[in-house]
This record gives sequence, structure tokens and C-alpha cells, in this order.
Amino acid sequence: MCGIVGYIGYNNTKEILLNGLEKLEYRGYDSAGIAMLDDNDINLFKVKGRIAALRQRVNDTAASTMGIGHTRWATHGAPSAENAHPHQSTSGRFVLVHNGVIENYQELKRDYLDGIAFGSETDTEVIVQLVDKNAEKYGDTAEAFRQTINLLKGSYAIGLIDKQDKETIYVAKNKSPLLVGLGDGFNVVTSDAMATLKETDQYLEIFDREVVLVNRNFVEVQKLDGTAVTRSPFTAQIDVSDTEKGTYPHFMLKEIDEQPFVMRRIIQEYQDEHDRLKLDQDIRSAMKTCDRVYIIAAGTSYHAGLAGKRLLEKMAGIPVEVHVASEFSYNTPLLSEKPLFVFISQSGETADSRSVLVKIKEMGHPALTITNVPGSTLSREADFTLHLHAGPEIAVASTKAYSAQIAVLAILAVDTARAKGFELDFDPLQELAIAANAMEVLTEQKETIEELVRDNLGTTRNAFFIGRGSDYFVCLEGALKLKEISYIQAEGFAGGELKHGTIALIEEGTPVIALATQENVNYAIRSNVQEVVARGANDIIFSMKGLERDTDAFVVPQVHELLAPLVSVVPMQLLAYYAALHRDCDVDKPRNLAKSVTVE
Ligand code: M6R
Repeated sequence: MCGIVGYIGYNNTKEILLNGLEKLEYRGYDSAGIAMLDDNDINLFKVKGRIAALRQRVNDTAASTMGIGHTRWATHGAPSAENAHPHQSTSGRFVLVHNGVIENYQELKRDYLDGIAFGSETDTEVIVQLVDKNAEKYGDTAEAFRQTINLLKGSYAIGLIDKQDKETIYVAKNKSPLLVGLGDGFNVVTSDAMATLKETDQYLEIFDREVVLVNRNFVEVQKLDGTAVTRSPFTAQIDVSDTEKGTYPHFMLKEIDEQPFVMRRIIQEYQDEHDRLKLDQDIRSAMKTCDRVYIIAAGTSYHAGLAGKRLLEKMAGIPVEVHVASEFSYNTPLLSEKPLFVFISQSGETADSRSVLVKIKEMGHPALTITNVPGSTLSREADFTLHLHAGPEIAVASTKAYSAQIAVLAILAVDTARAKGFELDFDPLQELAIAANAMEVLTEQKETIEELVRDNLGTTRNAFFIGRGSDYFVCLEGALKLKEISYIQAEGFAGGELKHGTIALIEEGTPVIALATQENVNYAIRSNVQEVVARGANDIIFSMKGLERDTDAFVVPQVHELLAPLVSVVPMQLLAYYAALHRDCDVDKPRNLAKSVTVE
């Protein structure tokens, strides 16, 4: 995780770095720093905490035309000003920012840096000390940088400044994302184009194990042996307004509200001029010819994968396994003869998923990535990509990406079913349009949900979510949302499973949120509710129109039952949002978390 910004140009370095870092805070926000080069020296500012704290710390005299900045999610060493980046070499000549993990940093320290006094507990500091040492040896910073990069094992996106060279930011990357943004008389370096969109929409991709010398007037991409590489820039297709909160108090609320529009955009993007489904022919044939789909994902995307399994199995008749990415890498199950791997990831950068992708590519299996970021690592390295079209998701708690993932999986399921010649009584585009309208109705019922939160979750220390079938998957997501941002301990359970142990935790007044949107289990889940109510639980039932009973707390509009997760998740997201608000929690940036989890 962590976010990097660099700027070399003519003015305003401080603001460009700080504004960029603010946009990158989703990548980590426990400490931050910037270094700017002026005529005489490097001005270094580092704080524990957020960019707002860094802003106060950076003084106005620090005028400069080049600099690098970093916002951190701690891996090696606690969040502190000492461990914050940029790190400076002991001689004071070099400063460096890094995103990733250097796996061999202890060996490097032992083999090359004996006797050097380190100022932090980070793996990163090894890199800047090594560059300094190599600069003395080779007498040339570019060569020293390449030699240092050659020694690194692990993941990294790096920006380096040399006090003796006011014309270059030295950049390198492996596995962690990094782009160079191209301007007129200036250039930028960034972990995400979104952070520097105000400066430019032209970006140059950097590939793993490449080094880039970024000057204010030109950019030179090199391989590690120093040979030059030519590459054309691409235009970042992001609307600046998508990256702003506008009149919303939080990105999360804005993103919940955007879900109906995202559904409609997906319908548009996956429809041809004859209103038929439009999907890449190669994806269709990969889906048609595989004998089993392995869905790999983490967190919320894993929960969307569970809903996807049901859609693919019910409609396209393909057996599907859904795996938590971090488990699959180390405990790979027996695979079928012709597997197809489907990676689901909002960011497309999740390290756990990527390590599975690397592994299955080595084994020669095909991979499809479903992501919100088409140029992301998981997208680039897979054979095929399906885009979510959800627009940038900034709040750490994922909302609109989850519903977009389910919608795209539904389209994939129907397309595959048709390719296999199955007759379906389900028009995905029409059913998604109905779900979009239902979502819109739900986003207008915020006051009711807020009241439910006040009455039922106000001071509780825990909560349970129960459901059966696809309601169970939404319960897992509802519980994750609630614990992630409100810090209420919450668990999602299959309705029938609670009595096999967990029911022991039910006390007088324990909130049990039950979902009832599936006709075949409506009776069964209501029996499970009775079991907990008999033991003192406070039941809060969310049902679907047509299945409701008088005592239900909330009724969602009726949609096709295969798409029920798209609508039942909206009140779950709002429950979490208002619970977090009620407890005065930082909704968009919950503690200990980061949006893009790029470490294993
Ligand atoms: O970018 P990804 O979808 O791969 O991220 C996976 C998880 O880290 C993510 O869904 C996480 O669980 C969210 N913060 C949940 O709201």
C-alpha cells in the first residue's frame, strides 16, 4: 500500500505534492512526509498521522521546483515520524520514498551496509543507504540507482532525489503500481493517476524492473542494464469530479448513492446497438470451454465472488469454486483438467490475488480479471479483463464496486449460458435496470435506516447477521461493512449454523439482523430468527416485497431473486454508515486499514 507523488517542474511543488497525497490517502494514512529540493538543500518534513497534519508542519519558506512525497501504511516499524518516508541517507545526499516490501532488506544491510547508523526501523531505508554507497563507488547516480535496484527482492515503487542533481527524479518499480504523468515543462510521478489529474491526463506506464529518469522536459525509460525503452503515453479516463466528494459529507455515502447510476452504466457498456449483450468473443470461448471456474478474491470482492458462484452455477451450469486469495497461494487445491481463473478485485492491485495470478500463469492456466481499474496489475497480467465501470471508489469501505462486480458476473453468467445454448428465462439487462430502480428507491430511505441504527445499534458492542442462500453472502458483506467502519464486532452466519455453537453468544438485546429475500428459505430463516428471539435477541428483519411479514423492520423492493444481493446490500451499507457516524468514527478512513492492499 502507501502512496507516492513526485513533481519536477517550475513552481508550486508543495501544493502539488500535498494535494496529490491527499488523493492517495486511501492507500494508507498512518504517517506522511515530503522532501523538496531548493537551491541549497533538501527540506524534509515528516509526521505521524494524516496529510492534514503534514500540511501544518510544512513551512511556507520551503519553495522548490522538485520534490517527492509519501503517505504510509506501516509494514516494517510502527507509524511514527522517524519511520515515515522520505528516508534520507546518512550523508544527507539522497532522499527516497518507497511503496512495497523489500524482502531481502536484512541480508542487504548485513552484506553491504555494515557500520551505517540507521535512523528508522523500515526496510526502505536500506535502499537509500545503498544508493548513497553505490554513488560513491560508481560516481554516477543513474548507475548507482540501477545497481541498487538490481539487488532488491520484493515489491517496490520508488522515487529518489539526489541533492547534487536538480534535474532528475529517479524512479523504479516492481509489482507495486507507479506511473509517470507528462506535462508541458513539468512531469509528475504517482501511484495513481487520480492523484495528479489536475496536472495532466497523459500518463506513461512503467513496467516491472524498469528504471525511469524523470526530468522536467523529458522522461527516459530504461531497462536495468541501462538500455532505453520507448513507449507511448495513454490518456487517463477519469473524470476529476469523480474524485471529489462534492456536497456529500463522506465518499462512502456518495458511492452508495452512485450505485443505481453504476448499474445503468454497466447496462450501457455491455449492450450492443441491437440491445443485445456485448462481450469479448475470447472471454466467451474461455468460459464455454473451461470445465470449472476458480474465483479468487479478498474481502468484499470475495463476497461478490460467492454471489457470482451462485449466478454462474444456476444459469451457466459451470461448477465454481470461490477461494480467499491469501489461502489459495499457499494451499492450492486439486485443480480440474481445464480450469479458468476469475480474479475479482476493485483495485486490481491486491497482492494476495496477484500472487495467485503469478502462480497459475506459471502453471499455464488462463485468467480473467474483473476489476474497476483496467490498467491495473491484475488486469495487465491476466489474459482477459472485464471492466466494472463503477468510477473511482475512494472510501476504504467498498460499496459500489461490490454491486458492480455482481452485475458484471450476472452478465457473464447469462452470456455463457447463451453461448452453451441454454434457454434462460432471465433478461440480464432488463433485470439489472429493475434492480437499479430498486436501489434508487433504497438510497432515498436513509432516514429510516438511520432511525433503525439509533434504535438498535446505538450502544451495542456486537451484532449478528443471519441469512440463507445468497442472503448469507450478503450477511457476510453486511457484517464486514459494519465492523470495518463502526468497530462493532459483527459476524455473518448461515441461518441454520448459529445453533451449532454461536447461539451461545446471544444475550438479552443482542442485535440479530436477518435477511429474507429468498422464497425457498423464507420459512427456514424465520424459524432461525425465532430461535434467537427465544434467547433474548433483538431481531431486525430485512425482507423482500412479496415475502414480507408485518413485524419486519424494513422491506426492500422486489427484484429477480438471483439479483437480490444487489438490493439487500444497500440497507446493509447504510446501516454500517450510520452506525459509524453515530459512533463518531472516521467513515472514509477507518483505523488500521487502507484501500488498496498491496502487501501479502
Ligand atoms: O481491491 P480489492 O477488491 O482486491 O480489495 C479487496 C479487499 O481488500 C477489499 O474488498 C476490502 O475488504 C474492503 N475494504 C472492504 O470494504
